Amino acid sequence: MQRENWASRLGFMLAAMGSAVGLGNIWRFSYVAGENGGGAFLIIYLASILIIGIPLLLTEVSIGRKAQSDVVGSYQTLAPKQPWFLAGFLGVGSAFLILSFYSVVAGWALYYLWEYITGSLSIEPTEGYGAAFETFISTTYQPLFWHGLFMFITIFVVLAGVKQGIELANKIFMPILAILLLILAGYSLTLDGAMEGVRFLFTPDWSVLSDPSVYIAALGQAFFSLSLGVGTMMTYGSYLSKEHRLPSATVGIGIMDTLFAVISGIVIFPAVFAFNIEPSSGPPLVFITLPDIFSQMPFGGLVGILFFLALSLAAISSSISILEVPVAYLVRVTKWSRKKASVLSGLIMFILGIAVSLGMGKWKDITPIGKRNIMDSMDYIASNIFLPIGGLVMAAFAGWYFTKKQALDATDLKDSPLGNFWLFIIRFVAPIIIIVIFINGIFFS
Ligand code: TRP
Repeated sequence: MQRENWASRLGFMLAAMGSAVGLGNIWRFSYVAGENGGGAFLIIYLASILIIGIPLLLTEVSIGRKAQSDVVGSYQTLAPKQPWFLAGFLGVGSAFLILSFYSVVAGWALYYLWEYITGSLSIEPTEGYGAAFETFISTTYQPLFWHGLFMFITIFVVLAGVKQGIELANKIFMPILAILLLILAGYSLTLDGAMEGVRFLFTPDWSVLSDPSVYIAALGQAFFSLSLGVGTMMTYGSYLSKEHRLPSATVGIGIMDTLFAVISGIVIFPAVFAFNIEPSSGPPLVFITLPDIFSQMPFGGLVGILFFLALSLAAISSSISILEVPVAYLVRVTKWSRKKASVLSGLIMFILGIAVSLGMGKWKDITPIGKRNIMDSMDYIASNIFLPIGGLVMAAFAGWYFTKKQALDATDLKDSPLGNFWLFIIRFVAPIIIIVIFINGIFFS
């Protein structure tokens, strides 16, 4: 069967940016930054993106493009009969873990969109936005409905395989999201106490640097936000033909993704301080602060609709890229139709997600590996362990398994002065940093 391809380099850029920009930039970035002390975290995060994230993004996309296959198949094609492909299976496993909680959170965003459309969130509920949110996520059936709806939409887009649809949606909604974030950032900065929030985000409190868990959180966030280490970018790269140049594309994706995260920090933290919310309140953070800001703004109800619409679309453009990882693998190996592969994988993720959702209420006492709840445990294992391992293997593969010529060829860095620099990073710098952070974070925190 003929494999699909992007219509253009722009199509790839948009899809890859759509994958990178999502709940990770707004929801996850702000609460992880809040829990890890703000400013100092931001610096380690930015360093991780620059030193490890962008070079690895180039690496991952280039492996996929060279092999023209899914995450397992890419390793098998390029290194037949060698154990590298096991990392592909780790990637497929991570995709299941990540999408099952991602979809639950995206379901919350859909619910908020709906509540803004009907007008119920435009005025603050008597118990306050915080308590109302906690009540919503801890009920049994309602969040499951929205999680199911989100998964349904994701499956629907992936099974259609319409790159046209995705590309078009990204083209329209990414700019809307960007404009809305900028307006909100401007507004947030006018709130009383805003400067405290800005200070929190931009003034490093160096004392947190002695805590190894901050480094692993920053690294995990960098991987998560750039969609690295699963095979998402490898799979997307495999739909790209050889004539497109990769280095500038991947730098562009990395910069865009980082801008979205930093700007959403500028939206959230001033409001966190203005409304006296604890910056370390964890995953609910944006679902409480944003409605607080909206309720004080003129036309806040409308802004709420637009914002949660944009957030939901950003989440969909990311979730489809995660589902595509097992689907591309299954379609090749089982010869199932794309439809069957999408529905089955999506269904399993939905079922896993039920546990995540119940973990916010009925099952809140189940706290595997000592994390806050089921969602945090899955997120921790996937983002802070599986993704860095996946990235480490990719770096080792391109850096050490490929010959230097193959590696520079695959990344279009053959004639570039940056070639040796990139190679040095993926051969030495990235692996060493990942391993050090890892050992520190896992064993000493
Ligand atoms: N990067 C996306 C976000 O920030 C989520 C995502 C898509 C992802 N594909 C991924 C995360 C692969 C990790 C791995 O919302």
